[in-house]
Amino acid sequence: MRRADVITISTRAAAGVYADDAGPAVAEVLRGAGFLVGDVRVVPDGRAVVATELRDACEQADLVVTTGGTGLHPRDETPEATSDIIDRPVPGISEAMRSASLQITPMAMLSRGTAGIRGTTLVINLPGSPKAAVENLHAIVPVLGHAMEQLAGGDHDR
Ligand code: MTE
Repeated sequence: MRRADVITISTRAAAGVYADDAGPAVAEVLRGAGFLVGDVRVVPDGRAVVATELRDACEQADLVVTTGGTGLHPRDETPEATSDIIDRPVPGISEAMRSASLQITPMAMLSRGTAGIRGTTLVINLPGSPKAAVENLHAIVPVLGHAMEQLAGGDHDR
């Protein structure tokens, strides 16, 4: 079974100002897609702290999904932190999520979320609201199995 880690990036949720609803919602979708999902980590916004959490999660997980910090606010630095730690970008994943989300709301274009590979781990950014996170994730769940196979070294016959 593939392991997925979920990281919620929200200064206010990390401070206990409100409960993290997005992380558990993302975890539930991933479990439904067949992943073994551990605890949801909640960390504050900020490029360095998010990069540290991502590096740590990539040590043990096949898939790392973040929620939050992808917008235009000055503290929204999740995409930058992700770019700092990935070896190779996978732009099609983010393109597909924004494309599908634009069918739901024009606000979708305000998510700067990215995706990429660190070692053999796939990292994907989702927006922060539970609704937005789940809508984005649903758009790419059908390809996650094949993505995991490729990362593990398997592929189509050539
Ligand atoms: N995508 C979907 N599918 N549904 C949404 O409601 N909200 C958008 C966008 N993507 C949304 C969405 C909004 S309002 C913002 S500001 C951006 O995601 C960034 O969200 P974040 O700053 O919480 O990461």
